[in-house]
Amino acid sequence: MSELRTIIVTGASSGIGAYCARALKRDGWRVFATARKAGDIEALAADGIEAFYLDYREPASIEALVTAVLERTGGTLDALYNNGAHAQAGAVEDLPVAALREQFEANFFGWHDLTRRLVPVMRKQGHGRIVHCSSIFRLVPGLFRGAYVASKHAVEGLMLTLRLELQGSGVHVSLIEPGPVESRIAANGLAWFERNIDHENSVHRAAYGGQLARMRGGGSKSRMKLKPDAVYAALRHALLSPRPRPHYLVTLPARIGATLKRLLPAKLLYRVLAGQP
Ligand SMILES: NC(=O)c1ccc[n+]([C@@H]2O[C@H](COP(=O)([O-])OP(=O)(O)OC[C@H]3O[C@@H](n4cnc5c(N)ncnc54)[C@H](OP(=O)(O)O)[C@@H]3O)[C@@H](O)[C@H]2O)c1
Repeated sequence: MSELRTIIVTGASSGIGAYCARALKRDGWRVFATARKAGDIEALAADGIEAFYLDYREPASIEALVTAVLERTGGTLDALYNNGAHAQAGAVEDLPVAALREQFEANFFGWHDLTRRLVPVMRKQGHGRIVHCSSIFRLVPGLFRGAYVASKHAVEGLMLTLRLELQGSGVHVSLIEPGPVESRIAANGLAWFERNIDHENSVHRAAYGGQLARMRGGGSKSRMKLKPDAVYAALRHALLSPRPRPHYLVTLPARIGATLKRLLPAKLLYRVLAGQP
């Protein structure tokens, strides 16, 4: 059995997950990280990380991951960081149901499946940390981001309920809620947008021009965009603090969003978010 603290990190091929998996390894954790492409799995392994294939849309891959990891640890696991996700852009009225389902398979049902396979392990050992990478979009809607926003709302609802149900078990649930962070999420989102949204024939066609340019350019150009280490600081706290918080807002835009939500009347908030005067 490993004497190091053990953690599963999903979506470790790029962005936040790639950074956190390596930072955890550097900080002395035994890291089981997941990716989908063979080259990404090899890159993780080359950095001394125990790397596995996982696609949240494939239940068999979730089961195989849990079996393999528990075999290696002797049946224990200290922490889970659900992180892997994609962002399906497109206006709600342009969103095919199949695209919304796929968004939820990846960002919601898969997270639930992996989490509930590990909760009994953590309950039995009497301790555990379960951390989910949510988003500021769990608090506020965002234009042309309905599928993604809905998936993050769903994760929060489910996992905060799990948090209540785990009170007193020694297992803690936390949600990290970042604003803009450097990663491949916008670039990866381009393929989803082009595959599923009939943007040429949409009433939103003109507005999609800006959306496409933003995704092609790698996402938000906000000067307040942070590097993944900002998320890692929150993750470390959630994993190590004797009193892990339920929510970790990361980046100034996320804090501003949360403050506006608290202070502004709802009608005014939604006008601001829609970019209306
Ligand atoms: N970057 C931001 O501004 C931001 C803000 C708030 C929240 N977040 C959240 O941060 C987390 C990490 O995203 P990121 O920004 O680092 O984006 P990213 O660079 O695109 O990384 C996403 C990771 O998730 C993996 N992934 C995608 N679909 C998956 C699936 N079906 N099953 C398993 N893994 C899957 C990707 O693997 P492939 O390389 O194989 O596609 C990749 O490793 C996400 O939960 C995201 O919602 C990001």
